[in-house]
Amino acid sequence: MLKHPPLLAALIQIAAFLLTGSLVINQTEIALSLFGWSIVQGCLAGICSYALRMPAWWIPIQITFAPLVILTLALDISPMLFLVAFIGLLLVYGKSFKTQVPLYLSSKQVNQALITLLPKNRQFSFVDLGSGCGGLLASLSSKRKNGLFHGIESAPIPCLISKLRSIINPGYRIRWGDFWSQDFSQYDIVYAYLSPVPMESLWEKVRNEMRPGSLLISNTFAIPGIKPDKSIKLNDFSNSTLYLWKL
Ligand SMILES: C[S@@+](CC[C@H](N)C(=O)[O-])C[C@H]1O[C@@H](n2cnc3c(N)ncnc32)[C@H](O)[C@@H]1O
Repeated sequence: MLKHPPLLAALIQIAAFLLTGSLVINQTEIALSLFGWSIVQGCLAGICSYALRMPAWWIPIQITFAPLVILTLALDISPMLFLVAFIGLLLVYGKSFKTQVPLYLSSKQVNQALITLLPKNRQFSFVDLGSGCGGLLASLSSKRKNGLFHGIESAPIPCLISKLRSIINPGYRIRWGDFWSQDFSQYDIVYAYLSPVPMESLWEKVRNEMRPGSLLISNTFAIPGIKPDKSIKLNDFSNSTLYLWKL
């Protein structure tokens, strides 16, 4: 269950809701508004999440979920808007439930550092695993015309955006799909900006498929127990580090 934090988060929310409900029913001393009780529910959910060692960034989500639902309902917004927002979020983040890799974008500093790592005078192939909206590929391919740039993205909306982008900037190709089913042996450089969850399996795949002399670059997430050949610390908003492994 702990392998699926969203499931655990939902179970904690239900437990905190039931606990708060029983408090509302069984005691008469405390008189709170609905919003007040939602804060109690949020605090209980936060405490349980902390006690069950959920990743730190889940705690504020757990605490604020119910109060935000109550506040949003009070705004009397059309249900259609929620439906549209829900479908939009599903098409961007829906697969994160399975992959545990949400969408966030490489910084400008990462972009600049990667350009210095790409070969200048010879042909090479580069793949961005989970290429998001294609921003990184658009930028790199416009600066290194000697490279073949590929992206693989599983989320429909980011993939569509990057495909549309590649019409204006034909320097890279995007494939809609799962990078786990791709053969990495065709690439000289594999770039990954994922999450801590898939890193061990990624190393297995890289070791089995990438050619000797090729390069794996991971943004922020190291491979447990495998020392990189080089790491580059960057001064961006998330203090990114690029980890490099030469196969
Ligand atoms: C952290 S974002 C990085 C986006 C982009 N590479 C960048 O650096 O700006 C990770 C992306 O990987 C995608 N992703 C996660 N698992 C994937 C998989 N197995 N196959 C294809 N894309 C995947 C997610 O949908 C998300 O867009």
